Amino acid sequence: MKYFILTLFSTLVFFTSCKQDTNTSNAPVADVDHYSDLHRPQYHFSPPEKWMNDPNGMVYYEGEYHLFYQYYPDSTVWGPMHWGHAVTKDLVHWEHLPVALYPDSLGYILSGSAVVDWNNTSGFGQNGKPPLIAIFTHHDPAGERAGRIDFQYQSIAFSNDNGRTWTKYDGNPVIPNPGIKDFRDPKVIWDEGSNQWVMVFAAADMVKFYGSPNLINWQFLSDFGKTYGSHGGVWECPDLFPMKVAGDGAVKWVLLLSINPGGPSGGSATQYFVGDFDGKKFTLDPTFAAQVMAEKAVWLDWGRDNYAGVTWSDIPKEDGRRIFMGWMSNWDYANVVPTKKWRSAMTLPRELSLVKTAAGYRLLTKPVAEMAANRGSYSKLETTRPKGKLALPASVQFPQSQMEVLLEFEGHLTVELSNANGELYRIGYDAATNEFFSDRTKSGQFDFSRSFAGEVVKAPRVSENPLVSMHLFFDVASAELFADGGETVMTNIFFPTTDFNKAELVFEGKLIKAEFYEMKRVWD
Ligand code: FRU
Repeated sequence: MKYFILTLFSTLVFFTSCKQDTNTSNAPVADVDHYSDLHRPQYHFSPPEKWMNDPNGMVYYEGEYHLFYQYYPDSTVWGPMHWGHAVTKDLVHWEHLPVALYPDSLGYILSGSAVVDWNNTSGFGQNGKPPLIAIFTHHDPAGERAGRIDFQYQSIAFSNDNGRTWTKYDGNPVIPNPGIKDFRDPKVIWDEGSNQWVMVFAAADMVKFYGSPNLINWQFLSDFGKTYGSHGGVWECPDLFPMKVAGDGAVKWVLLLSINPGGPSGGSATQYFVGDFDGKKFTLDPTFAAQVMAEKAVWLDWGRDNYAGVTWSDIPKEDGRRIFMGWMSNWDYANVVPTKKWRSAMTLPRELSLVKTAAGYRLLTKPVAEMAANRGSYSKLETTRPKGKLALPASVQFPQSQMEVLLEFEGHLTVELSNANGELYRIGYDAATNEFFSDRTKSGQFDFSRSFAGEVVKAPRVSENPLVSMHLFFDVASAELFADGGETVMTNIFFPTTDFNKAELVFEGKLIKAEFYEMKRVWD
């Protein structure tokens, strides 16, 4: 439905923006506002202008982390999808590049992934250099308008110049649609165990696995998910990868899965599963299965605004990290949030790790260590008072809407951001209910959508440590909370009419650590 309404709206523009199958030269998208317009994140990725949703094609190659993204260069609402493109060398500073993939006669370019085809299994390599292969969904708007159900299928494109230009495979699609309406978002990995490429993608409210020797010919392997996890909406943007269990050495497979609607706090959200993959089938770990059955789903992030996130492919073995990034919005209101020139930002890049807890395997999420390189001035608060409201020290000269905060305490604690217009955002921990909370009900503009301000978003605390830790990143219009070393995570956006310029801590208990770092603007 989402696509149908928006498709009608944008069909006209689509016919004027269709391009050839080979994208050769396009000027980079214009940096029209220098990233200083109202609500603009100062150190999160956002497109210079126009509409963006999911991160796509995240792949690391020759010193560059590529970020492609769902992009509509003609409007600030969803429309005929392209892949926008940017690269970063340090996960902090970004370089914008020209649009990488344009809609074509097979349709819009929906979400997907990219890999380095190191052994040139596809044959698309040139001069001994491995090609980058993008694997994405083609979405045929004409088929959709005609009421067909087979208008989404998986296709590929290759690049021989570090992702700068792409050629679509002339035999597309590589996986035709068998008659399933929602059939999209392929994520591909090379599986050393079965010596093949493995693709996972969403099909209605489950996922399908396919295998291939060469990224061109694909064979169905299995289905997963019909009887597990949350099914409150359609499944989208899966990701499958092996991970070493921290401190244990065993390898388990993680399946990330976005769902819309049906999230724990309303609308879009990402759940995950932990199990084994034998080259054909994904089987849930038994303790994890019990937990999923009891709770319906295990969530990666309890906030309203972390969706469609997946991980970078081809991170070098010496590095060994699983680095994740999500889209910092929610389909409940993404098309109407009050930004003017552009819409949406990405989360910070985050490192995932897998641990074994009393409840079974769990993912921990932390901001990547590289973020520390973006720190500016530092300040800390000390107090022996058992309760109170504390402003940040006068020495804090940086914008308090744009900082990293490290807190450790026993008891209750709330961080309040406010401005001269009487707007207030609150995020904290309530010891009485043992929950973290994010309250944007008075945080500024929210009349653009009935489902935006809604209720206070809550996340149950998992850790049993009496010492609570909250690691926070505020960036003008967003708050990311990594609590207790990444056991509980919440991401939420907000839109004050003027930037928050005052931060205060309200606590009761024992404040052990309260440190603040300026997070520098990355767009100069
Ligand atoms: C997720 C999603 C994907 C789809 C893309 C379209 O947010 O709906 O399933 O490929 O966005 O832009």
